[in-house]
Amino acid sequence: MAKQKLSNQKVTTIFHKKYLSESPKDTINFASRFAKALKAGDMLALTGNLGSGKTTFVKGIAKGLGVKNYKYVNSPTFVLIKEYKGKLPLYHFDLYRLDIIKDIEDLGSDEYFFGKGISVVEWADKCKALLPKNSIKIEFRIKGETKREIIIK
Ligand SMILES: Nc1ncnc2c1ncn2[C@@H]1O[C@H](COP(=O)(O)OP(=O)(O)OP(=O)(O)O)[C@@H](O)[C@H]1O
Ligand SMILES: [Mg+2]
Repeated sequence: MAKQKLSNQKVTTIFHKKYLSESPKDTINFASRFAKALKAGDMLALTGNLGSGKTTFVKGIAKGLGVKNYKYVNSPTFVLIKEYKGKLPLYHFDLYRLDIIKDIEDLGSDEYFFGKGISVVEWADKCKALLPKNSIKIEFRIKGETKREIIIK
């Protein structure tokens, strides 16, 4: 009964608002637990400086969704989106090199953002206007050489 109740809750109510990760592995494991509470159609909007742990977090999301080669999740240089097969499809966007919002609209982002998979967007502040209103916003802050603060909003 309690379990069923949990599964109806939105992930942001289950997880603490702030998590201090002590290592890349810690970030991956945290994200993996987080992923298990996600539902089809959830959208994660990631923000934070270079090297703040966004891609590492996506690796963990992939791990939690059962993506076999989750360790190979990376930020592709010339591709804006990569798809992975897990229990739910995972769409990984990295908008770092995106100059104009039209580029991402041309990709057919709506199909992904409002679809049945889990969409994760790095540098989400570059396409704020296109994000669904109920996106889960996650901010990454560098707190030390191996410390990263993960803030879920
Ligand atoms: N606690 C931690 N969590 C995540 N990464 C960490 C942590 N401590 C150190 N690191 C290091 O920080 C870097 C994070 O890189 P990552 O590619 O995940 O960041 P990013 O936010 O995606 O950067 P970019 O904006 O360049 O894509 C890696 O080199 C990783 O080893
Ligand atoms: Mg990255």
